Amino acid sequence: MRLLIMGPQGVGKGTQAALLAEHYGIPAISTGDIFRYNIKNKTPLGLEAMSYTDKGELVPDSLTNTIVKDRLAMDDAKDGWILDGYPRNASQVEALDQMLAELGTPLDAVVALDADHDVLMERMAKRAAEQGRADDTPEAIATRLATYARETAPLLDIYRDRGQLVAIDGVGEIDAIQANIVKALDAKVA
Ligand SMILES: Nc1ncnc2c1ncn2[C@@H]1O[C@H](COP(=O)(O)OP(=O)(O)OP(=O)(O)O)[C@@H](O)[C@H]1O
Ligand SMILES: [Mg+2]
Repeated sequence: MRLLIMGPQGVGKGTQAALLAEHYGIPAISTGDIFRYNIKNKTPLGLEAMSYTDKGELVPDSLTNTIVKDRLAMDDAKDGWILDGYPRNASQVEALDQMLAELGTPLDAVVALDADHDVLMERMAKRAAEQGRADDTPEAIATRLATYARETAPLLDIYRDRGQLVAIDGVGEIDAIQANIVKALDAKVA
């Protein structure tokens, strides 16, 4: 199973991606987590990424595309994966298309989660209090949401036109949302 999980900040992509990874026995690959790991360990990649992530800006495509390409080439990604946080703009869609063409492994589906703005803001405030992520400041959150609306949300139309979009309500119990995703995916990909 090769999946993307898309949706605005705070909608629950990481939570649902981890459950889907477990359900299908595939790795969940989060570009945000890869950047945070590198920032924490002060790698050259982390030091470069940090100047963007802290402000809530996108890390340059050249860097982001490279980490995804390297990650998809790893052994545990041979039989499937779920990508969280990528692609985020039209040029990343193009880069991913090319990677998958080279690997000869097409995408199976794109899970799109959504929730009202108020719900998203509430969840991010909670996460900021619990996890203290450096980019959960009001300014960085506002930047990320604006970039999402401008650059990422329009990508859903691309995948809808390709017949790959599975739209799921991101409001409700975590387990119920997971069950809805799996039901929709199994109906689609079977
Ligand atoms: N595909 C990407 N392209 C460019 N930058 C990215 C990409 N993915 C992650 N980043 C960088 O990492 C930061 C954190 O990403 P991450 O996806 O964890 O946070 P997010 O946008 O708040 O979403 P979520 O609320 O689901 O965690 C982004 O603000 C951005 O700087
Ligand atoms: Mg996340």
